[in-house]
Amino acid sequence: PSTPTADGKKVLLAAPRGYCAGVDRAVDAVEKALDLYGAPVYVRKEIVHNKFVVETLSARGAVFVNETDEVPEGARVVFSAHGVSPAVHAQAAARNLATIDATCPLVTKVHKEAVRFAAADYDILLIGHEGHEEVEGTQGEAPNHIQVVNGPEDVAKLEVRDSDRLIWLSQTTLSVDETMETVHLLRERFPNLQDPPSDDICYATQNRQAAVKTLGPRCDVVIVVGSGNSSNSVRLVEVALEYGAGAAYRVDKADEIDPAWIEDAQTIGLTSGASVPEILVRDVLQVLAERGYTDVETIRTATENIAFSLPKNLRGDLKSAG
Ligand code: F3S
Repeated sequence: PSTPTADGKKVLLAAPRGYCAGVDRAVDAVEKALDLYGAPVYVRKEIVHNKFVVETLSARGAVFVNETDEVPEGARVVFSAHGVSPAVHAQAAARNLATIDATCPLVTKVHKEAVRFAAADYDILLIGHEGHEEVEGTQGEAPNHIQVVNGPEDVAKLEVRDSDRLIWLSQTTLSVDETMETVHLLRERFPNLQDPPSDDICYATQNRQAAVKTLGPRCDVVIVVGSGNSSNSVRLVEVALEYGAGAAYRVDKADEIDPAWIEDAQTIGLTSGASVPEILVRDVLQVLAERGYTDVETIRTATENIAFSLPKNLRGDLKSAG
């Protein structure tokens, strides 16, 4: 229960926040692989987009590489939660690598949609950020059928083969509102544009944004814990500002908080992206408490109870190892 302070300083703590089921599984996969096979375990790209997680796993013997050709022939490599294209699987097979695929099942779902609609000869408009690993992976499933749409600004220049065989899909970690705006513009241009069979923006992204929308209007400042390359974390800052927060900042760690940001703040909102361990949020709460923000109220807008089982081959090896 929250206890009001005499000066009315308050923290509104968003829930849900932090780890989603896909991140939890991916980090667990690397930890279990290190336990089972010993170091080094190679990981292609950051397993999840969080500096602290990558540093912690590196210290335990994970070796992060950019591409599979940096992994010694025959060694073991984990693919990150963001997913990989079939070309990357092929490169790994050609180098005889033992792979553990930690792609989030909700990203795999989008890959399968892309494969299915490309096979039916649809043009696919993939709303997402060009260059983001997830987008590269999904696009790689059907490069000849997929065009990336970064946002509303791209809609006018698109060219499609047949506007009656056209579907949009999306990256899992976008802003729900901005994506809907892009879809609205797409549909104005292409009235027969089909919707994805189910939401591509994942439950975790949607829930974290919904929590921030609820607390944002009550906050002078919102602090989002998350790394700069974490799409869903960056979106949380934007959503906070759109929904009325006086200011919003993203920090990797508590020591990045500039005291000037919170100098005049009565109410501070706090949340974290889907790749952020809770300990980093605890550290921020500690810093805020030292500055008089001891009254913490949790604003819960959803309850999550989703969990994904570990990648199949890792599960099998863990079982045989007893
Ligand atoms: Fe998966 Fe969504 Fe997390 S796609 S990795 S559950 S942010």
